[in-house]
Amino acid sequence: MTEKQRKIIVTAALPYANGDIHMGHMLEYIQTDIWVRFQKLRGHDCQFMWASDAHGTPIMLSAKKKGITSEELIADMHAQHQAVFDDFLIGYDNFHSTHSDENAEIVSDIYNKLKANGHIIEREIEQAYDAEAKMFLPDRFIKGTCPKCKTPDQYGDSCESCGATYNPTDLLEATSVVTNTTPVLKKTNHHFFALSHFSERLQEIVNSGLVPQSMASKLKEWFDAGLQDWDITRDAPYFGFKIPGTEDKYFYVWLDAPIGYMASHKNYADKHNTQDFPAAWLADSDSEIYHFIGKDIVYFHALFWPAVLEGAGYKSPTKVLPHGFLTVDGQKMSKSRGTFIKARTYLDHLQPEYLRYYFAAKLNSSIEDIDLNLEDFVQKVNSDLVGKLVNIASRCAGFIHKLFDRELSAELDDAEMHADLLDSSEFIARSYEEREYSRGMREIMRLADVANRYIDEKKPWILAKEMADNPVKASEVQAVCTQGINAFRVLIHYLKPVLPELSINAEEFLNSRTTKWDDIKSPLLAHKINKFKPLLKRVETNTIEAIVEASKEDLLESTVAVNSNFEPLAEEITFDEFIKVDLRIARISNAEAVEGSKKLLKLTLDLGNHTRTVFSGIKDAYNPEDIKDRLTIVVANLKPRKMRFGISEGMVLCASGKKDGEGIYLLDVDSGATPGMRIT
Ligand code: 2FM
Ligand code: ZN
Repeated sequence: MTEKQRKIIVTAALPYANGDIHMGHMLEYIQTDIWVRFQKLRGHDCQFMWASDAHGTPIMLSAKKKGITSEELIADMHAQHQAVFDDFLIGYDNFHSTHSDENAEIVSDIYNKLKANGHIIEREIEQAYDAEAKMFLPDRFIKGTCPKCKTPDQYGDSCESCGATYNPTDLLEATSVVTNTTPVLKKTNHHFFALSHFSERLQEIVNSGLVPQSMASKLKEWFDAGLQDWDITRDAPYFGFKIPGTEDKYFYVWLDAPIGYMASHKNYADKHNTQDFPAAWLADSDSEIYHFIGKDIVYFHALFWPAVLEGAGYKSPTKVLPHGFLTVDGQKMSKSRGTFIKARTYLDHLQPEYLRYYFAAKLNSSIEDIDLNLEDFVQKVNSDLVGKLVNIASRCAGFIHKLFDRELSAELDDAEMHADLLDSSEFIARSYEEREYSRGMREIMRLADVANRYIDEKKPWILAKEMADNPVKASEVQAVCTQGINAFRVLIHYLKPVLPELSINAEEFLNSRTTKWDDIKSPLLAHKINKFKPLLKRVETNTIEAIVEASKEDLLESTVAVNSNFEPLAEEITFDEFIKVDLRIARISNAEAVEGSKKLLKLTLDLGNHTRTVFSGIKDAYNPEDIKDRLTIVVANLKPRKMRFGISEGMVLCASGKKDGEGIYLLDVDSGATPGMRIT
């Protein structure tokens, strides 16, 4: 392969700097990282430019709630996110922030260019305003009854029940989720981006491969409906960049977020003293720019973003690459089922490469959802990585080590078979390039089967026994094991983009490094290898159970987070539904810490005529000694739940995420009540 070196800039969606990274995020970041590592292996000048998405109302309110500044919040989240990415072996080249000097500069430059080119329009609008909080309300911060189907508790932009979209002013009985007051309408002057100026040009680029065909058809519906001007203004208070020439107007976060891709690149280019920025973004540059994103944000990346770039004299992205969502065990990730798994929770229990491989084995270029089936995950990584791949090396290494002083033979036993393994090189490379990773993984595992079958047939363990009587067998053992180890080397090399750490450890064993895709053309012969150390352990089912349990424990924490985002806690219920919950007075007869759990206390509850055990996530808030003998309230008819530490037979009621501070608070009971009394 002699391919011209390409200049490639790759981005993944910028994570919001106010939430934890979960498995759904990791699907995208792993997909992106594999592609970037592959491009680098092919010798291309590929840079993965990334950042925190730091602006917007939710971040501002979240910081306020925590009693810290927005800057403090985003700095803390940035560090947490970066640590997760590093631990997942995401090889970004730069992880910057949209709240940066570079971004401020580029955003204002782009805005000025758009304005000078006649693409910015100002007009007065009427918007919902919370007079108590003294702020204009984003659509998602207004709730009310759907004007169409009359379902209560719907957001200001669309109805989750009937799917209708509308303006927040159309909602019936609208309330602000910030203060629960009724919003009023207030006039304000807003700056709009004239998206319709780009209608023809956008259709041209969308139809020439900017997005996959399935998405191009979806976008056509939007073109047919006519592109609307895009409101890029948010009124103070807002955490973002001020619009030049205004005092209380800010750029909407979705304007400055994608510009953050450029800002990260500028920051990187400045740090490395290169001329790459803005060169790679200019209209006449032959660089390639790829955005990996979720299918929910195609609208921003395939319409607004290219139009903003073109309007300011930059080139459009080469491709916008959307992927589907992640389901776990066939369903939307669920906090109560323990399948809303945070990236950090996974890392507390397992190495990153199992998940990297599992996702690679499932990913393709379509936008279909990907399922992380936990049982299949265990089965697949054990069977493919441990049973097939690593097994090839472990079956051969010992003989070379013990019998031949670590030296491989001077010739392969079966040169043709080795050539077959190498023949798949371009097919696998194409699979990576086309983001058909699952196709590539299938091919690599097919080759692993070929290698294992070869070892099964040659039976080096029998040849080794025969060596004592028949010295000819010695060279046969050495050649067979050399063949196996070279097969392992080829496969590990193909898997480099997916398994970066495992491949480094394997190279240590092979005593040979590869840095470019074609570096494996000649086999390792008459070459000393190092002692083989186990490269990967099997995943045990109980480790997965522990992850699921730990994710259920995370639920308590996230209830606080949900509150701070003003999400509804539950749907409205009738009295009959309420009475199904059997609430009882309980006396905490014993409380103790749970070994191995950061959050749980084990409570023994006296309910009058019997006692039961309940695990409760209140360890942070209470010293076990202090709550002994205290009366509290328990949900007595909650289905017993198997946890990592035992069975929990109910749930103790607590308040959490209070308006004036965080924390968890056990409910108190007035004197006179006795254990077992029903609460109605
Ligand atoms: O949807 C999201 O999570 C956004 N934070 C993605 C932004 S991508 C880019 F435009 F910055
Ligand atoms: Zn409706």
